[in-house]
Amino acid sequence: MILQVKDLSVSYWSREGYVDALRHASFTVFEGEILGVVGETGSGKSTIAYSVLNLLPFDSERAGEIFFKNENILSQPEKQMQKIRGSQIGLVAQEPASMFNPVLSIKYQFQEVLKEKGKIKNKSQGLDIILDSFKKVKLPEPMRILRSYPHQLSGGQLQRVALAIAISLKPTLLIADEPTSALDVTIESQIVNLLKELKESLNLTVLFITHNLDLVKVLCDRVVVLYQGRIKEVRSKDELFSAPQDDYTKNLLKAFHDLGD
Ligand SMILES: Nc1ncnc2c1ncn2[C@@H]1O[C@H](COP(=O)(O)OP(=O)(O)OP(=O)(O)O)[C@@H](O)[C@H]1O
Ligand SMILES: [Mg+2]
Repeated sequence: MILQVKDLSVSYWSREGYVDALRHASFTVFEGEILGVVGETGSGKSTIAYSVLNLLPFDSERAGEIFFKNENILSQPEKQMQKIRGSQIGLVAQEPASMFNPVLSIKYQFQEVLKEKGKIKNKSQGLDIILDSFKKVKLPEPMRILRSYPHQLSGGQLQRVALAIAISLKPTLLIADEPTSALDVTIESQIVNLLKELKESLNLTVLFITHNLDLVKVLCDRVVVLYQGRIKEVRSKDELFSAPQDDYTKNLLKAFHDLGD
């Protein structure tokens, strides 16, 4: 077992008072699997991602536990979390551009991460690690990519760079929060196939967040269905598609099949 979320509830403080984002959520991520978290907008998917990274706003209310390597993430001191983030739990976010600084080259930003996370001693090192990671995510013309600034790359290229940076740190768990929803469908399927290959070749464990059942079908081993902050079911993908238990999931799948799958 890599991660165990136990009875997690999160509320955000807003002008209207507390907003319940997650209610009593419990699930487990096992080594080597891709666990999908599927739910509509506002259902609490990203809240799960940022809870696991212990990056919730300081005035949010949280209850429950998140065990990673037998330690409760939610009670770790910030200093310890800085060692865990990136190095042990990686994140690839929805908007590739949001992960990069527009005025720094890709090479600078990659080396900065490697240095910050203790993989290299000074910024002139690490080219071998970078090129190896680019190869793993199938980025052609690596030297040109390295010289580029974020706006000079396409969304798909930038997302591959983000994935390369994430896997270069060899995290135990990779969280991918809607990593393809900003990309067009051809690029989306390339990135999803790449994640599938990386899962096999690197034995990656992935928490894959999406609103898209198509992607769940292609990629995931097991699935958590989230609705309005509550988990409706946690099942193997095959069981979910063949015999959903919960009424919400049944409707979700019906809409999916009605759309022609
Ligand atoms: N920082 C915040 N402050 C106040 N409310 C928030 C904050 N972040 C999220 N929320 C609220 O919490 C609920 C869950 O949000 P969350 O971002 O986890 O949903 P999501 O499933 O990731 O949605 P999407 O598919 O649109 O990304 C929503 O009602 C949202 O408005
Ligand atoms: Mg989200």
